Amino acid sequence: MANYGSPLYVYSRSDIESNWREFDEAFGDHPHLVCYAVKANSNIAVLNVLAKIGAGFDIVSVGELERVLAAGGQASNCVFSGVAKTQDEIKRGLEVGIRCFNVESSAEMSRIEQVAQAMNTQAPISIRVNPNVDAKTHPYISTGLKENKFGVDIDDALALYEQAHNSKYINVQGLDCHIGSQLTELSPFIDALDKVLELITQLNDRGIEISHLDLGGGVGIRYDDETTIDIAKYVDAILDKVGDLDIILEPGRAIVGNAGVFVTKVEFLKQNSDKSFAIIDGAMNDLLRPAFYNAYHQVLPVNENAKGTEASWDLVGPICETGDFLAKDRQLSLSEGDYLALMSAGAYGFTMSSNYNSRPRVAEVMVSDKAHHLIRQRETIQDLFNTESVIND
Ligand code: LLP
Repeated sequence: MANYGSPLYVYSRSDIESNWREFDEAFGDHPHLVCYAVKANSNIAVLNVLAKIGAGFDIVSVGELERVLAAGGQASNCVFSGVAKTQDEIKRGLEVGIRCFNVESSAEMSRIEQVAQAMNTQAPISIRVNPNVDAKTHPYISTGLKENKFGVDIDDALALYEQAHNSKYINVQGLDCHIGSQLTELSPFIDALDKVLELITQLNDRGIEISHLDLGGGVGIRYDDETTIDIAKYVDAILDKVGDLDIILEPGRAIVGNAGVFVTKVEFLKQNSDKSFAIIDGAMNDLLRPAFYNAYHQVLPVNENAKGTEASWDLVGPICETGDFLAKDRQLSLSEGDYLALMSAGAYGFTMSSNYNSRPRVAEVMVSDKAHHLIRQRETIQDLFNTESVIND
């Protein structure tokens, strides 16, 4: 903190690498590609570390694509997800030669076909099917139910595949599904797998060959006391069922979540008859998950021996919202000036941060071996409005 100021995100390179390798190695010789979901943490140093060890990438915008390319990742290892790819995004994906578009609707298929036709090329696609299974996770991050906006209804997928198969400008490669995030049980994954395998059999029967199966991301991590999915068992359960299909996975949280912390400083302690508030310099704009999902992040003092006022503290930020809290009712011994680490903040931490209340976005640091590197400078006040202008009249 002396070097970089507070608040701050700090990531561990070795944890990121070993988390990705755990997925990769579980496949052994089976053809596969572990595509890190860039949305979880898109800092180019994170992407670069993963590109260097052979990761593929799951992207959802041209911004993420350009980040991957700037970080040294290969387009041919990128799968492009997302419900509303624009013409420009499709064009750029085709230009650089991404591995596959994960198509989420019939309208999107037509758009991809038109762009490919205009470029006189073939677009590689897989269809993201919605298998209608309950991921048993937070409703905001559940995606595989009929009522969710994602994917093509599994009952409609066959017809769309036939249409794609008959198009000169579409090259059917795979089948894709992603049922939700922060899953802590294996069974929804297996239910979805069984359903999509059934569809693949029907497609094969119609002469439509599927060369890869993308099972999305979603493997949960331990924030508190959740039991989590054993990755080797998860991969074994997949390999038991898929024959020689090439498998793609899109884990995000499981790669970076527990490889990062958010560090914040206690500014003031404020106790009234009912409540003990530790007012910290970090806020909901820096780490949105608690305010948005009521998510739990463990809080640890950076200095283990710090002694202060023992109480059950709510950690609240400087933002003018009652929802601006990062943790509630935590038994801690605190003094003003203490640094606290919010654990498991490597995924969906910085990437969901904003400038609300005109707060510059914080710095990011990566620890590699024993060295630490600034991988994103703290924004300046000038950065906040240097693309804005007043009307002169
Ligand atoms: N693939 C697709 C198509 C996705 O939509 C997602 C996440 C992933 C892969 C990666 O999922 P993961 O392995 O990270 O669970 N902001 C929320 C999480 C939103 C997840 C959105 N999609 C949070 O902070 O919990």
